[in-house]
Amino acid sequence: MKNPTIISLPKFENPRGNLTFIEEDTHLPFKIKRVYWIYDVPGGQSRGGHAFKEQQELIVALSGSFDIVVDNGIQKQVFSLNRSYFGLYIPNGLWREMNNFSTNALALVISSTEFSKDDYIREYSNYIEYIQR
Ligand code: TYD
Repeated sequence: MKNPTIISLPKFENPRGNLTFIEEDTHLPFKIKRVYWIYDVPGGQSRGGHAFKEQQELIVALSGSFDIVVDNGIQKQVFSLNRSYFGLYIPNGLWREMNNFSTNALALVISSTEFSKDDYIREYSNYIEYIQR
């Protein structure tokens, strides 16, 4: 099973403001099929408590901060994202949850797949069964 990794993105610092970009072939280990974003998360709420069978993703805190808990069924790792020039790459097959959203947090998710409800494993017990198959 692959591990989640922080990917450093280019940062052009300028007194007029900073600029960061992502290029599929340079920065990502997958082809981009979809981009979505999570925003207006009320304090104390969590998102994304599930695993994907196929979806690989890069998650960037474009604004504000949040934590991503990645769990491979044996151990959990917590990644605190609060810079828009770091992305967390999450391979498929890992359970992940996002929590601790700050006010005005904006989470960009770049995905290797189009949306498919069949790609989701939403029950943790099913996830444990899935990885032991
Ligand atoms: P979901 O991934 O279940 O969010 P969370 O796990 O954080 O609760 O998505 C919420 C709803 O949005 C769900 O009904 C499916 C729908 N959705 C789409 O239709 N297309 C998408 O690309 C995504 C990410 C979600």
